[in-house]
Amino acid sequence: MKAVVYKGKEKVAVEEVPNPKLEAPDDAVVRITTAAICGSDLHMYEERSSAEPGIVFGHENLGIVEEVGPAVRSIQKGDRVVLPFNVACGFCFNCQRGYTNACLTANPQGTTAGYGYAGMGPYRGGQAEYLRVPFADFNCLKLPGNEEDELEDDFVLLADIFPTAWHAAELAHVQAGDTVAVFGAGPVGLLSAYSSLLRGASEVYVVDRAPERLRKAESVGAVPIDFTKGDPSEQIEEHRRRNTRQMSALRPSEHKMPGVMCGIDAVGYQAHSDENPDREDATQIVRQLAKVVNPTGHVGLIGVYFADDPGADNEAAKKGRYIFPLGEFWDKGITIGMGQAPVKKYNTYLRDMIINGKAKPSFIVSHRLPLSKAPEAYSHFVWRGVGAGRDFTKVVLKPAMDKAA
Ligand SMILES: NC(=O)c1ccc[n+]([C@@H]2O[C@H](COP(=O)([O-])OP(=O)(O)OC[C@H]3O[C@@H](n4cnc5c(N)ncnc54)[C@H](O)[C@@H]3O)[C@@H](O)[C@H]2O)c1
Ligand SMILES: [Zn+2]
Ligand SMILES: [Zn+2]
Repeated sequence: MKAVVYKGKEKVAVEEVPNPKLEAPDDAVVRITTAAICGSDLHMYEERSSAEPGIVFGHENLGIVEEVGPAVRSIQKGDRVVLPFNVACGFCFNCQRGYTNACLTANPQGTTAGYGYAGMGPYRGGQAEYLRVPFADFNCLKLPGNEEDELEDDFVLLADIFPTAWHAAELAHVQAGDTVAVFGAGPVGLLSAYSSLLRGASEVYVVDRAPERLRKAESVGAVPIDFTKGDPSEQIEEHRRRNTRQMSALRPSEHKMPGVMCGIDAVGYQAHSDENPDREDATQIVRQLAKVVNPTGHVGLIGVYFADDPGADNEAAKKGRYIFPLGEFWDKGITIGMGQAPVKKYNTYLRDMIINGKAKPSFIVSHRLPLSKAPEAYSHFVWRGVGAGRDFTKVVLKPAMDKAA
């Protein structure tokens, strides 16, 4: 079969690899109908992770069950299923408590497993024609309809970024009426803003510099903030101050809460500097959050900070060690949550919101391409929406488009 194989810094190729087989009685093999490219793939693509050449990429996978092992009971050949990017067993201490992002058995080398990802176990990715799914009963989420229907690109986002974004809102305690600042208008940031709005937030700000991404944020009702036009926290506070109705409702001394109650970092360690956007500044976002989140607020760090970043520009950062504004967070009594999202905790009810027309996360999808175009897609997506002709916000790959061509 054809698959997207990592070849080294900023290089992927679509190559022939052996078809996956059932390896355990509770495995399934899925024919991929759509696999998305993620900002997380870019960390590997840019040699900013421990990924070695040869990995088949792809952890955002949707398809049709082709074959099931004899122990699989709840799904069968022909079922349409989406797979959480976290591979999880369902029976270990962490899975049982809902922390499928920290499965203890799926990865012999660690406490987290996933498809096609460095350090996340032996599982091949799904940017390919077929995918082996371990613990199939636990990992397959059944979907209605078929691959040609209008929900295909919504459903594929259930593999990772819609539940991940919902989790970001959960970490930031976003509730009805809340004020929210989301840093990053990539796919995760956009869906974090969208999730916040679905949860009833009253004001949602989205910070980035990529024009098309900021436009998408605005299209769902968020306030776009371009960080190249001035300090983003100050822009948010200024925007809040100009809301005269809201300001006239303040009680004495509430001006001491000029920022927002909830903050989401949807950028991570590859953040660019606000002052010099051509350069990276790994703690840019946490410093902004320390500033703009009000006392007693909550922060979710959903953007990635790896403990292994061979491409970092200093020895500490190569080990994921950063100067962190702990004192400011402590003084304000802000809680911080972080880490990989437990997709399975949310994917069923987010699926049902999609089925029933209450959520349409595919508004972020900018490009639908055949699998064979993956090298081109990566080479554009890596610009993260900055530069003429580079507004690749979210790319979904479709193996069947190659066959049709
Ligand atoms: N925790 C999880 O389970 C999980 C799951 C999926 C993705 N992620 C991570 O979420 C992050 C975002 O993913 P994505 O797919 O949206 O990636 P992306 O790279 O497409 O988006 C990142 C965005 O951040 C913007 N940005 C850079 N510096 C900024 C700054 N100083 N201020 C504001 N915006 C800035 C970029 O312009 C870009 O649009 C990545 O780190 C990814 O690995 C985490
Ligand atoms: Zn992803
Ligand atoms: Zn487990």
